[in-house]
Amino acid sequence: MRILAIETSCDETAAAVIENGRRILSNVVATQIELHERFGGVFPEVASRQHVLAIRPVIEQALEQAGISAMGALDALAVTNGPGLAGSLLVGVNTAKGISFTSGLPLLAVNHLEGHIYSNWLAEGTAAQPITGEPLDPDRFPILVLIVSGGHTELALMTGHSRYQQLGSTLDDAAGEAFDKVARLLELGYPGGPAIQRAAGQGDPTRYALPRPLLHNRDHRFNFSFSGLKTAALNLTRGLTEGDEPITEQMKADVAAAFQAAAVEVLVEKTADAAQAFSAQQVCICGGVSANAALRQAAATRMAQLDLPLHVPPPFLCTDNAAMIGAAAYYRSRAFPHSEAELDLDVFANLPLVELQAAA
Ligand code: KG4
Ligand code: ZN
Repeated sequence: MRILAIETSCDETAAAVIENGRRILSNVVATQIELHERFGGVFPEVASRQHVLAIRPVIEQALEQAGISAMGALDALAVTNGPGLAGSLLVGVNTAKGISFTSGLPLLAVNHLEGHIYSNWLAEGTAAQPITGEPLDPDRFPILVLIVSGGHTELALMTGHSRYQQLGSTLDDAAGEAFDKVARLLELGYPGGPAIQRAAGQGDPTRYALPRPLLHNRDHRFNFSFSGLKTAALNLTRGLTEGDEPITEQMKADVAAAFQAAAVEVLVEKTADAAQAFSAQQVCICGGVSANAALRQAAATRMAQLDLPLHVPPPFLCTDNAAMIGAAAYYRSRAFPHSEAELDLDVFANLPLVELQAAA
């Protein structure tokens, strides 16, 4: 089954062609990073306008790279309809509806968070974007899932394909949001996550002590909180810049390293705790923050101690892309046949992952 997938939920215009949920025939991502850099974050109006300009060439490129010359060579269309920025989502959804209407291809609506989860199922890349690493067992459940992105931080138990039980989430900021905000306060550049990772590489994570929010809080065993950690990093930085002396590059690197170490420890320990508590057979980490080298390393060490198979996608599949949307659409359509979307499909800025289970 070949699916053309479209993703425009935030600031990447993306299209991909995916075969049987696991093989990438093409994966095109047009990033808007340069456009939003001067605002220090995603500017929604600018994002949706840029999607309008980019969507057609991106889809054409994805079809061409996959060797698809006619829509008849495809079996379905998939599109993200939430969560995300409403104006951005609309561009992808309206484009997909148009193609579905003219081609007659069935339209599959995909939750962006479920897309991130299924980035772990993509097992075969292209020559330009190879996928290596320990293969996931595609049908071995339960799987403990940690989603860490710019908008979400969720722990969920996946009991079967497209079936989720939510265990916890962030009470305030998402992990990626905290990386972005701390990078901004340290003036490290945009986007914040990679900037923090770079600076932290030059820093000493033990020079300054930062808190591990909710780490041992039994009432919030599977929840997270990153707002206090961000404020602690802010206060630490302010303390360092008191007086006339400007903050040095080394101090910035040490704050970045301390922040990254605190965030990573909480994410990894709570994931390990949940995996044990629910007897998970495999662990998957996904979302933009899972591109973080320190998180990948710490998670690999911890899960190896527990003898648990860990899967984290290659970095190009951690951040937003359409390949993951095609993978999720394939498995969802198999788990729930006849779940095609109608042409009145709407977008939902706050679509939760568990609502999928209730609707199913
Ligand atoms: O999944 P994603 O591309 O978009 C959302 O769905 O939100 O995630 C973007 C987030 C941003 O906050 C970005 O700073 C973070 O992922 N990120 C990273 C790294 N690369 C991207 N955070 C930490 N380390 C990285 N290397
Ligand atoms: Zn995302």
